[in-house]
Amino acid sequence: MKILILNGPNLNMLGKRDKKYYGSMTLKDINKELKKQAGKEAKLKFYQTNSEGKIVTFVQKHLHYDALIINAGAYTHTSIALHDALELFKGPIIEVHLSNILAREAFRQVDYIKPVATKCVMGLQEKSYYEALSYLLNLKKCDKI
Ligand code: DQA
Repeated sequence: MKILILNGPNLNMLGKRDKKYYGSMTLKDINKELKKQAGKEAKLKFYQTNSEGKIVTFVQKHLHYDALIINAGAYTHTSIALHDALELFKGPIIEVHLSNILAREAFRQVDYIKPVATKCVMGLQEKSYYEALSYLLNLKKCDKI
């Protein structure tokens, strides 16, 4: 099983951002952990960008992947373009947020990823990613991917 792990703007700054919301791990550390968790069950491809166009193009070029985990960062709340690109993806899409966006500012309640996501995991800091991957590995075990 081939899984994309996509991260949008400012997620390259994890470790320096507000620890109350985002914890203290860097994205590099989180990705390392995910790779360990996937073991031989899944092949992971990681991509982070601060650019909306680049993440859209990346999704378009990887539509053949089996599943996708995405933390779109602030593009979650603004990007119809990313929503439309994700709509083309056939496999499960797991939306991830380190913080609980529902318990934060009103502008974070708008979510353009939600309508195209199979499932959303939020508010568990770095564990949101692990939970998302665990869900996909279990889907595979149930022959649902
Ligand atoms: C975030 C939440 C977004 O509102 C914010 O813009 C981020 C990170 C999260 O992981 O909690 O950059 O997606």
